[in-house]
Amino acid sequence: MKFFVDTADVAAIAELNDLGMVDGVTTNPSLILKSGRDILEVTKEICDMVDGPVSAEVVATDADEMIAEGRKLAEIAPNIAVKVPLTWAGLKTCKTLTDAGTMVNVTLCFSANQALIAAKAGATFISPFIGRLDDINLDGMELIADIRAIYDNYGYETNILAASIRSANHMKDAALIGADVATAPPGVIKAMANHVLTDKGLAQFLSDWEKTGQKIL
Ligand code: G3P
Repeated sequence: MKFFVDTADVAAIAELNDLGMVDGVTTNPSLILKSGRDILEVTKEICDMVDGPVSAEVVATDADEMIAEGRKLAEIAPNIAVKVPLTWAGLKTCKTLTDAGTMVNVTLCFSANQALIAAKAGATFISPFIGRLDDINLDGMELIADIRAIYDNYGYETNILAASIRSANHMKDAALIGADVATAPPGVIKAMANHVLTDKGLAQFLSDWEKTGQKIL
């Protein structure tokens, strides 16, 4: 499973990128707000740092303006994936931009039918929001499993990009189901390395090592 980082925080992306853990980046208007940066500037900086796709989201709601915004975002760098909402205008934008060779990430997906219609429109990525479904007592992972089955039934090449990931367990479950990509905040990716028994075992080893009186360096 590929790891995308869900942030516009350049320093946080750089830290993970240096470890080879960044296959791409996703941003959205809320993350741009959080970064306090200009969308065009910060997105260019991220595109220059990361080899994989970098999603930058349009904010228009009608198709013509959305397409114009998408084309402007696509000019930032060759690795831009234009992110569009799963609306009819978003699907029109998806078809137009993918036909022109631009990667498109269709976002705010909350149902299998939405994922199916986005694949028909040629989406490069579909972004089902796991955490937000869990928030309203639905099962985000069940949606990932349904989309996986539908795409596999018909050989759709649209990549399932599990989004709204809130925990390390979400990462594991998305990987078990077979999501192509999961995008997560930096803290969630780092939390995947944690285990209480690792901490306990290390403390024991260090305590025993001190008793040997030895040094390696
Ligand atoms: O990738 C979409 C993501 O940013 C949404 O996450 O936690 O705001 O639902 P969240």
